[in-house]
Amino acid sequence: MRTTNRRSNTNSGPRARLARFHPYPAMVDEDLAAQLARTHVRKGHSILDPFCGSGRLLAAAEAMSADRIVGIDINPLAVLLTRARLANPNVSVLRRLLAEIETDTCYRKRIAASSEVKTVQWFNEQSMEELSQIVAWLNMKQLTQPDLLVLGAILSATTRDASFARKSGWKLHRMSEASRSTFAASAWAHFARRLEYFISQSDTKPYNSKNTSIRIGDARRLRVDEGGRKFDVILTSPPYGDSKTTVQYGAASKLCLTFVPLVKGLETFSCSSSVDSQCLGGRLSREIRHLSRQYWAGSAEGTTAKKVESFLADYAIACRGIASSLKASGTAVLIVGQRSTGGFRVKLDQFTIDQFASLGFELTRYDVRKLTRKRHPSHVNRFARSSCTSKRDSGLIRTMSEEFILTFSRSG
Ligand SMILES: C[S@@+](CC[C@H](N)C(=O)[O-])C[C@H]1O[C@@H](n2cnc3c(N)ncnc32)[C@H](O)[C@@H]1O
Repeated sequence: MRTTNRRSNTNSGPRARLARFHPYPAMVDEDLAAQLARTHVRKGHSILDPFCGSGRLLAAAEAMSADRIVGIDINPLAVLLTRARLANPNVSVLRRLLAEIETDTCYRKRIAASSEVKTVQWFNEQSMEELSQIVAWLNMKQLTQPDLLVLGAILSATTRDASFARKSGWKLHRMSEASRSTFAASAWAHFARRLEYFISQSDTKPYNSKNTSIRIGDARRLRVDEGGRKFDVILTSPPYGDSKTTVQYGAASKLCLTFVPLVKGLETFSCSSSVDSQCLGGRLSREIRHLSRQYWAGSAEGTTAKKVESFLADYAIACRGIASSLKASGTAVLIVGQRSTGGFRVKLDQFTIDQFASLGFELTRYDVRKLTRKRHPSHVNRFARSSCTSKRDSGLIRTMSEEFILTFSRSG
């Protein structure tokens, strides 16, 4: 096995289009996405990302003139964002819409708000009213599907901006009561700002992807669903652990998508928190196969062990699907992390290497990359709520500060 352990610096070079389009948990760094696409994707290639998230890797692959682009994600928000990112909207129409907002007609006309969304838990009255007005305003327009996808993604980001969700992390936490009582975000202003940003990014080359399929799907079903259509390159960043204990993709997306399905033409983009149990490791395995023993040093018994086992068992199925979806000459690139569970790192890099080796693949490159743009704390205390000082003192653990980029091709 040829293995190189390189510490890479991929933080230079031009930033990709739409870097700040919509926040999404655990996005691949846009410079890394561009660098990987430059290295692996050639004109005419077919590319798959079975955990496509916000679509950064696929957008970077598309920019290298890949021919066939397939994105899969279990999360409807991911599918909306990836489709929107790869859409070619009519920018003149978007400019006209922005001008309409800026001339204030929408505020003054007080468009009759839709009353379909009942929950107020995450929104104050002003946000509810303005978000409903935006829905009603969009529903008055004749918009094409690409325009709708972009506006739907902007509405999704705006919904989060105008909600009580704390914006400092992806786990859903409400602002404190004091902050909620003074919170006065204008959804219209956020929507306009995001639309303006999108327009400002649209003068570069339009996306040209004609042979693109982005769909809601389960990476554990890859072998079944993709059948005989194999890929030249699989570029992906799988989740680091089960969704419930990591970022809660489902719960966070449910909030973002509160209003989007009320827009005519975007009805399919609704999300329930049950997405979290459909994510890898979302359902606890009944049997413990001791998959984790080599890769995680925590106790072999108990719920935490079951969670790690369930995640690794599901992840192994996805690895088999990835391996069998590659052409004989194909390359798989997986960006993985070592998250900490129960105080111990899950060595997902080594687990991935061993899975692919057992499937007849050779690790051709192993890069370690510092997460320099990470916004989250460098340490968390897993016993922060304990009343025992010594326990609290022992609970401090480092959060993830690096990721691993693993490149595989078939052995021999
Ligand atoms: C680390 S994120 C991908 C981030 C993405 N590369 C980006 O730059 O935005 C992992 C993704 O895996 C998805 N996921 C989790 N379980 C899945 C499954 N069983 N099938 C397909 N996607 C899944 C999550 O919804 C999430 O979008």
